[in-house]
Amino acid sequence: MRIALLACLLAPVLAASRNRPGPVSSLPDWVEVCGRNDPDLNLCIKDKLVKNIRKAKDGISELGVPPLEPFVVREMLVEYRQGDVAGKMLIKNSRTHGLTDVIVGDVRANLDDGGLFRMEVDVGFQQLFLEGDYKAQGKIIVFPINGKGVYNISMADVTATWNVTGEYFRKAGKKFLRLTRFDMFPEVGDMEVYASNLFTGNDEFNKAALAFANEFWPVLYTELLPFANEGWDKVMRNEANKVLARIPFNLLFPDE
Ligand SMILES: *[C@@H]1O[C@H](CO)[C@@H](O)[C@H](O)[C@H]1NC(C)=O
Ligand SMILES: *[C@@H]1O[C@H](CO)[C@@H](O)[C@H](O)[C@H]1NC(C)=O
Repeated sequence: MRIALLACLLAPVLAASRNRPGPVSSLPDWVEVCGRNDPDLNLCIKDKLVKNIRKAKDGISELGVPPLEPFVVREMLVEYRQGDVAGKMLIKNSRTHGLTDVIVGDVRANLDDGGLFRMEVDVGFQQLFLEGDYKAQGKIIVFPINGKGVYNISMADVTATWNVTGEYFRKAGKKFLRLTRFDMFPEVGDMEVYASNLFTGNDEFNKAALAFANEFWPVLYTELLPFANEGWDKVMRNEANKVLARIPFNLLFPDE
């Protein structure tokens, strides 16, 4: 299960699993899973999820799970559209630091909700630090942006619910899980943003825009969040599903 969780929840990035090896017949010993009939399934998941995430700091090479510290996303596209205002941000080599310090609150899992997999996990992070390269064009909220540079974002007191939906499929007689949706709308206590070169070469504009963004980040963040969620959903599903395709469901949630 754990792995599922890991894979599912976190494992996005996974640029690692490129050469698509086939399904595994066992999980690494240290990965802890929950029986699918565990009467305290939610508690079990809560407990094991944290342990597995901490232990998977450097990834799980047997399963193609990439390192979680930092967690690297090669590429993610965020498209913003509000009325006739539209902009695009391509984020590259994003590195997220602090994911393995996750605090897991309540878990609400249903392995068979009318044949679907559903799981909500309440998570929190005291500190997250994101950095990477970006390329933006068009209008992002009120800013006409046309730049390419580096960014970093420091966030404190982050809380979110990982809201995961999946479906089951069979391959070579075995049952597997595939995610169909991964929603996440983090709330952030405090945020500080830095980006270089937002207005190709105009440092004064850049400074002013950052000052504005850092003063009014709650408004900007709320506005951008649904679009970021779409980008994130795609990346997470795609990458998690590469890992899940290698782990038969009876290894994730054994029938014990
Ligand atoms: C973010 O990037 C800027 C510019 O490179 C740098 O001055 C700043 O120290 C970085 N922030 C952190 C927390 O590393
Ligand atoms: C999780 O997603 C499902 C399906 O999209 C939705 O019905 C549910 O309200 C969501 N839960 C949360 C906590 O957002």
